Amino acid sequence: MQISGRTVVIPGATSGIGRALAVALHDAGATVIAGGRRQALLDELAAEHPGIGTVVVDVADPASITAAAADVIERFPATDTLITMAGFSEPEDLTSGDFVDASARMVTTNILGTVRLIGAFTEHLAQVGSGSIVTVSSGLAFTPLAPMPTYSATKAFVHSFTDSMRLQLRDSGVRVREIIPPAVQTEFAPGQSTAEWAMPLDEFVAETMELLAKDDDELVVDHARALRDSEVNGNRAELMDQLTHLG
Ligand SMILES: NC(=O)c1ccc[n+]([C@@H]2O[C@H](COP(=O)([O-])OP(=O)(O)OC[C@H]3O[C@@H](n4cnc5c(N)ncnc54)[C@H](OP(=O)(O)O)[C@@H]3O)[C@@H](O)[C@H]2O)c1
Repeated sequence: MQISGRTVVIPGATSGIGRALAVALHDAGATVIAGGRRQALLDELAAEHPGIGTVVVDVADPASITAAAADVIERFPATDTLITMAGFSEPEDLTSGDFVDASARMVTTNILGTVRLIGAFTEHLAQVGSGSIVTVSSGLAFTPLAPMPTYSATKAFVHSFTDSMRLQLRDSGVRVREIIPPAVQTEFAPGQSTAEWAMPLDEFVAETMELLAKDDDELVVDHARALRDSEVNGNRAELMDQLTHLG
């Protein structure tokens, strides 16, 4: 994919992977519209990187997605790429029923948020020609982390949905790709931004930018390969056990 000249909207770019990728894409010559709930962080990003556009959006709120998509398409009609970055996790203890509310929150943001964003942008992306949708799953979609069961399952949903979407949109001209990150040093979970078991953010983004410039359906950095392929490699259960004892 040619990055320079693209117009990329990234709901979930106020921090972490989304923010770093937004800056990298901007530096590579793309027009970037960063999204998220935290207006102050969007303002800071736009001030630090003149030219980056912003949109406030809460992907857990269908009306917010509808309004944000209309706003982006009106202000940036050349928008040709959607990266569905917004997502979060909460730990869950399945030994009592207390986990159910957390589970519902993750389903709302990670699954319905992704689906609703895709629903809000797909027709526009098909109209502009050479449109692109890039979803964000996780190595945990393929090798679940037992303390985060719903989170891992939401990412398995994103992977499966992405595969079907790729086939359905084959004749629409919209290219469908999936970023499959390993653990990356962000504020995603407490202590993760400095954890040795997580990949440095700048390295992850540099490798992902190289993969974006190529043409693979799945963007899998080297650090994510073991999680992505554990089922094929026959060590999924062993890896799940190891992950449970990390951190
Ligand atoms: N870091 C990892 O180890 C890792 C591994 C695999 C996959 N991922 C995935 O990568 C993506 C980015 O995670 P990260 O590590 O960069 O974590 P992060 O620093 O916590 O960033 C999460 C981003 O998602 C946004 N977001 C969350 N809920 C939202 C909502 N309801 N509406 C709009 N935006 C929302 C946040 O913006 P606001 O709070 O401002 O709304 C923020 O910009 C997530 O989908 C995550 O599941 C991360």
